Amino acid sequence: MNVPLKIVLFTLAVTGFYTYVGAIVPQMEAHPPKSTEIGADMGPVELAATGKEIFFGKGTCALCHTIGGKGERCPDLEGIGRRAASRIEGVSAQEYLAQSMYQPNEYVVDGYQPTMPNISRAPIGLTDGEIIAVVAFLQNEGGEITVTPATRFEAAGEAGSQPVARTEGEGPLDALAIIKKYNCEACHDLAGAERRLGPPLHDIGARQTRAQILHSIVEPDAEIAAGEPPYTPGLMSATLMSTGFYDTLTLPELTALVEHLASLEGGE
Ligand code: HEC
Ligand code: HEC
Repeated sequence: MNVPLKIVLFTLAVTGFYTYVGAIVPQMEAHPPKSTEIGADMGPVELAATGKEIFFGKGTCALCHTIGGKGERCPDLEGIGRRAASRIEGVSAQEYLAQSMYQPNEYVVDGYQPTMPNISRAPIGLTDGEIIAVVAFLQNEGGEITVTPATRFEAAGEAGSQPVARTEGEGPLDALAIIKKYNCEACHDLAGAERRLGPPLHDIGARQTRAQILHSIVEPDAEIAAGEPPYTPGLMSATLMSTGFYDTLTLPELTALVEHLASLEGGE
């Protein structure tokens, strides 16, 4: 009768966590990231199937989004193929979906933070072709597939995507080794509350969602951490650029890094 609220909340949190991990991790592992060639003769069904693989793999989409879930951290994408046509007046469904990937902050879904990274750039770096396939997959969620391998999106701009050369291969899967390799601790205290050139991260998991942490790492200039002393904009991105972070980090490494940071909650 009188179950203490704390226990109920704890149970809910644990269940939620395992549901999340259970839903995402096997899917991500089942589809190791690799660049996918989009053949000129691919039909809509094949495009959508390829897009699905990318959604659950290299695109890292399933790290944040569900399809037919609760959409707590990021919008649930069930029925997005239908919804996409009416999001922005005068913008077609296919163009809206492309924009959500090339220019994620142009339109921010009500009730959510602008933490979706530009996935056409490193370190995720989907190619223009891969983005066509993902759009086909999303259109297939309640809408009609209108893209073909020849589609060129306005949202891509002149240059199109800037994919990374390396999306698979050997690399440390241990988060601590990744942190050491890129010298994160030169600027961040991971064990305590010391302020270095960047904010302490010992409690980052208590302050931010996985989506926000991932965003801070892949788009370090987009949102400057709050607090004193004021941190230098661009410092982290300049450093990560110069260490080759964006060219060499693989998706499994990125996932391991985010998981590790999300587990740091400040306490013992
Ligand atoms: C780090 C978390 C994160 C990742 C990774 C991510 N997204 Fe998002 N996405 C968000 C958030 C947060 C929003 C809502 C805010 C906004 O609209 O920008 C969003 C919005 C969207 C929307 C608009 C939804 C609507 O209802 O209009 C689409 C479509 C979308 N994402 C597709 C994708 C696809 C496809 C991928 C992978 C290629 C992806 N996202 C990767 C966080 C993420
Ligand atoms: C040269 C210094 C430097 C290095 C190296 C560095 N960062 Fe940062 N980082 C910063 C600064 C400065 C900020 C605050 C400004 C901002 O938010 O962009 C920051 C912000 C962050 C944030 C957001 C923190 C918050 O409280 O919002 C995260 C997460 C983060 N860094 C993770 C990392 C990881 C992981 C690495 C290693 C792969 C790393 N950083 C390497 C300087 C650095």
